[in-house]
Amino acid sequence: MSDVGAIVKPTFDAMKLKAEFPILARTVHGNVPLVYLDNAATSQKPRAVIDAITKYYECSNANVHRGGHALGAEATALYEDARSIVASFIGAQPNEIIFTRGTTESINLVAASWSSMMGETLKGCTIVVTEMEHHANIVPWQMACEKTGAVLKVIRVHDDGTLDMEHARELINDTTAFVSVVHVSNTLGVENDVRTICALARSVGALSLVDGAQSIVHHAINVTSLGCDFFVFSGHKLYAPTGIGVLFGRANVLESLPPYQGGGSMILDVTFERTTYNDVPVRFEAGTPNMEGAVGLAAAIRWFTALDLEALRVHEAELSERLLRDLNTIDGMRVFGPQTLHAGIASFVIDGMHAHDLGTLLDEQGVAIRTGHHCTMPLMKRFGVTSTARASIAAYTTHDDLDVLSAALLRSVRLLR
Ligand code: ALA
Repeated sequence: MSDVGAIVKPTFDAMKLKAEFPILARTVHGNVPLVYLDNAATSQKPRAVIDAITKYYECSNANVHRGGHALGAEATALYEDARSIVASFIGAQPNEIIFTRGTTESINLVAASWSSMMGETLKGCTIVVTEMEHHANIVPWQMACEKTGAVLKVIRVHDDGTLDMEHARELINDTTAFVSVVHVSNTLGVENDVRTICALARSVGALSLVDGAQSIVHHAINVTSLGCDFFVFSGHKLYAPTGIGVLFGRANVLESLPPYQGGGSMILDVTFERTTYNDVPVRFEAGTPNMEGAVGLAAAIRWFTALDLEALRVHEAELSERLLRDLNTIDGMRVFGPQTLHAGIASFVIDGMHAHDLGTLLDEQGVAIRTGHHCTMPLMKRFGVTSTARASIAAYTTHDDLDVLSAALLRSVRLLR
């Protein structure tokens, strides 16, 4: 029989990929093999990234944009190459990429710089976020409101964990100056229609920021098609080291913003009377930057984009579906958020069991998950809980890992009830 016309699903060999991650070969608590399902908190790092960082220190380490020597030139070239690699990864231009410590610093930079520029002209204006934001996308805006007299407005979340888009349409209006929304919720795994939200912001003349901390690893991102003014993410969830993050800002918007911090690199000329600031993006990178982090992030993006990303999406979608299915077979289980549209993140509680106890029992069986409020206290309150257990997948997660999770959950339920 001919296969012509048959739809062939791409296959992804997560088991093979796992071998590229040294840490995934270790055991915990004696000899229990590790199953790592806390990827929404941070991902593990492949050999390619670890080697790139080692090579940087062994061969090219020097301060960037300064020394006139060979190492300085090499380090600068590597650092600026990393900027270009990040830019093409998300469909931006290199001068629109600012390296930060991570998502949190990227949002703080925007909120602090923009609000100091706007000052009291923001009095009575609104800044709109959602009920499912991480604290990193709430607190910097509260600080901006305190400074300027702007008012924070919050788009509601439906009972099923999806965003109330009618409420978004109501709140984003002529009084709105800024809209800052999460792309994929770190607690619910739900994906928001950020394209529509950014278009709503634009239609009323407001700026928009998309928190891509969780989406960057599960979605192809193109900042132009998202229509946002800012897009932020951390390296460490994308198989890169900690301490490096990205702020994308539309060139003309970045040009209009004052510096966030003062120091070396961000200046053109300094006298005691007056300082002239450097151009974007270095205007926002005061001090010695995280060169090692940039090199590691570039290596991570190179490594990641060399994977069969179409097959990876299929693999992750299958695992996400399966994770929800498995969880829902457990007696007394409550999984938060919609039962579809999960980007590999599932938060849950089990009747009669504290999330932390569950986490401890799973850990003893070699399964690492996160428990707690996931830095989304307002969302916890919305759902009437103080903490949940959360399992989250990565490219190296296998069906075997989910088998271990299911068995460990069942055993924990038997022990705790
Ligand atoms: N924001 C990270 C998480 O969701 C740390 O776990």
